[in-house]
Amino acid sequence: MLKRQSDRVSFFPIFAPLMETTTAEIANGRKLYIESYGCAMNMADSEVIASILKENGYATAQEEEGADIIFLNTCAIRENAEDRVWNRLRQLKASKQHKPDLIVGVLGCMAERLKAKLLDQEQMVDLVVGPDAYRDLPNLLAKVDDGQKAVNVLLSREETYAEISPIRLNSNGINAFISIMRGCDNMCSFCVVPFTRGRERSRDPHSIVREAEELVAAGYKEVTLLGQNVDSYKWTSEDESERITFAQLLEMTAQVSPELRVRFSTSHPKDIDDEVLHVMARNENVCNYIHLPAQSGNSRILEKMNRTYDREWYLAKVARIRELIPDCGISCDIISGFCSETEEEHQDTLSLMEISQFDFSYMYYYSERPGTLAARKYEDDIPEDVKKRRLQEIIDVQHRISKAKHQTYIGKTFKVLIEGDSKKSKTDFKGRSDQNVMCIFAKDGVHRPGDYVNVRINACTTTSLIGEIV
Ligand code: SAH
Ligand code: SF4
Ligand code: F3S
Repeated sequence: MLKRQSDRVSFFPIFAPLMETTTAEIANGRKLYIESYGCAMNMADSEVIASILKENGYATAQEEEGADIIFLNTCAIRENAEDRVWNRLRQLKASKQHKPDLIVGVLGCMAERLKAKLLDQEQMVDLVVGPDAYRDLPNLLAKVDDGQKAVNVLLSREETYAEISPIRLNSNGINAFISIMRGCDNMCSFCVVPFTRGRERSRDPHSIVREAEELVAAGYKEVTLLGQNVDSYKWTSEDESERITFAQLLEMTAQVSPELRVRFSTSHPKDIDDEVLHVMARNENVCNYIHLPAQSGNSRILEKMNRTYDREWYLAKVARIRELIPDCGISCDIISGFCSETEEEHQDTLSLMEISQFDFSYMYYYSERPGTLAARKYEDDIPEDVKKRRLQEIIDVQHRISKAKHQTYIGKTFKVLIEGDSKKSKTDFKGRSDQNVMCIFAKDGVHRPGDYVNVRINACTTTSLIGEIV
C-alpha cells in the first residue's frame, strides 16, 4: 500500500483508503509495503516502484504487518521532512529485532542526498536507492538476499520510466497522477531538488497520452500532470521531426476524452506563458487552476533565491492569468525568513498575498539544506522564533483571504467531480470544483463517485464550500 506521509498541508486530496493489493504475475511469495513522504512526484514514483517489483514477482501489501520488505520513499526538502524519516527508521530498527529477515530500504530524495551514509547506522537500513535507479531494484534486492548492503544512487539524464505502467496504489479509481518529466534545472538557491532529482528531462508525450487513455478506459475521471516545473516541458523526437511543448502536451491530454479533467502542477512564474493560458481557456476539461509559487514578495529576496523573476513580474503574471481566465483559481508557496530578510521585506510578502488573492497557499519557514547555493553563500541568520512569527503572520493573512474568497462563492453553482465520501460524514460527498476548491454536499441517492454534478454553494469554511446538488 502507499501511505502518504506529508509534512505539507495536503496538496492533493488524500484519497479514500481503497488500498490495492496486487497479486504478482509470477508470485514469489514476498510482500512489499511502501510508505511515501513528500510531494506528489514521490507518490507517482511509488506507483512505478510497485510496478517494477510486481513484474519481478513481488506483491504490494496493504499493511506493514506481514510485509517482508518495507520501503520508505523519502523527501529531503526541509530538515523536518528528514527528521520524520529518521524517527521511522528507529521504529523499524526495533521491528527488525523481532523479524531479522525484514528488509528496510530508503528510496527517493533523502536516499539521493545522504547516499551510503544511510547505511552507517547498524541494523537499520539494508538498501539505498535514488530516484533514477528504480529499475535496478530487483538486482539490489537480490544482493541484499546474498547478505550484502545495496546502494544505487546514480542520477540519469534520460530516465523517465516512460513505458512503465504505474500500479495505482491507494487509489479511489477517479483521480490519478501522471509524471511528465523528472528533475529540475532551476537552481533556486534554497532548494535541494536539483541535487536529489538531477537534470530536467521530459517524458515521451505519446507514452503520457497512452497512460491517460488507459486511465480513461479504467474509469478514471481526472489526471494531474506532474513535474517540478511543468511549463518548461520540452520533448524532441530522436529524428527531431517532432517537438512538443507543455501547451501542446496539455491539449493532447485534454483531447483524450471530454469527460477527463486535466490538472497540472507545478508552474514556475517565469515559464508559464500565454500559450498555456489559451489552451486552458479553450479546453473546458483543462481545469482553471494554477499552482504558482511566489516564495517571497520582495524583489531583493527573490533575486537571492535565484527565482529569476521579481515582484512586478510575478504580479503581472497573476494579472495576465486573471485577464485571460477570469475565474482561475491560483494557489501559492511561500517561505518566511530566508537569509537576511528584513521586516519590510517580509511585509512585501504579505502585500503580494493581499494583491494576488490566492485561494490557498502552502507556507513554510526557511530550512537550510546542506549543499544548496544558499547554504554555501548566505548565512541562515534569521532566528527561528522570528521565522516562525513571520510564518504565522503569513498563515493568518492567507486564512483571512481564503475565507473572504469562499464567502463570495455563496449562491454560486459549480461543476464538481464527486471523489467519494466526505471525511466527516458518510451521508455527504466531497469533490472539487474546476478551480480546485473542495466542496461538501449531501448525497442524493442518484449520483455516485466519478459523476459530475452541479453544486450550489450555501455556506463555507476556510478550507471548503458547503452546498447541495441542483
Ligand atoms: N518546483 C516547485 C517547488 C517544489 S518544492 C517550485 O519551483 O515552485 C515545494 C515547496 O517547498 C517550494 O515551493 C518551497 O516553497 C518549499 N521549499 C523548498 N525548499 C525549501 C527550504 N529549504 N525551506 C523551506 N521551504 C522550502
Ligand atoms: Fe526547487 Fe526551484 Fe526547481 Fe522548484 S524550481 S524544484 S523550488 S529548484
Ligand atoms: Fe521532497 Fe523530493 Fe518532492 S525533496 S518535495 S520528495 S522532489
